[in-house]
Amino acid sequence: MNDQSNDLSPESIYEPVIDGILTEGYGILDNFLSPAEVATLATRLHARREAGQFRPAAIGNQQVTVEKAIRGDEILWLDEATAAPEEQAFLQRIGQFVQYVNQTCYLGLRDYEFHYACYPTGTFYKRHLDRFRSDSRRKLSVICYLNTDWQESDGGQLALYLPDADGSERQVMALPLGGRLVCFDSGQLEHEVFPATRERLSLTGWLKTGGPLI
Ligand code: OGA
Ligand code: MN
Repeated sequence: MNDQSNDLSPESIYEPVIDGILTEGYGILDNFLSPAEVATLATRLHARREAGQFRPAAIGNQQVTVEKAIRGDEILWLDEATAAPEEQAFLQRIGQFVQYVNQTCYLGLRDYEFHYACYPTGTFYKRHLDRFRSDSRRKLSVICYLNTDWQESDGGQLALYLPDADGSERQVMALPLGGRLVCFDSGQLEHEVFPATRERLSLTGWLKTGGPLI
């Protein structure tokens, strides 16, 4: 029973993402969530949004402002205490990922926080870095998409701006495919969300270290 191709342990699933983060600064893992899990979480997102639980996303963590010219998404933070079963299952899956990252990368991740994000048609998030100037605990950014049947022509790509050794820059584009997980270094990697021709859904979060703020 040593057939590697049949090995679905967390190690074999997560290893390429970790490798990507360490060597390129980002990793992409398709099917982190199954189509059924994506559908259940998207249904819950819509129910919570219709119940008025979402707010326009703000920028900054000190002087917090809503700037539609910078980002147009609406968000809702997940709260373990009030999480529905499928949300708890998602957080548990993330916990498993965090455990694996800690065993292999020694980043000292202690905590994580996630919010739903809904980008209404035509909205975007201009190029930015996720880490706050006054709080460096965000180590890895994780985005998990909740869209069904997303097509290239729908737009909504995540663009990652990767610095090259010669000082130039390379752009990598990822479509927000349902179940896909994208993970990158929060303090290093600038990125941008392009507008889409349909609503764009995700669970977005940060894996954080403990310790002092700076
Ligand atoms: C963010 C972000 C990227 C995406 O919420 O900070 O950059 O693809 N999201 O949704
Ligand atoms: Mn971001």
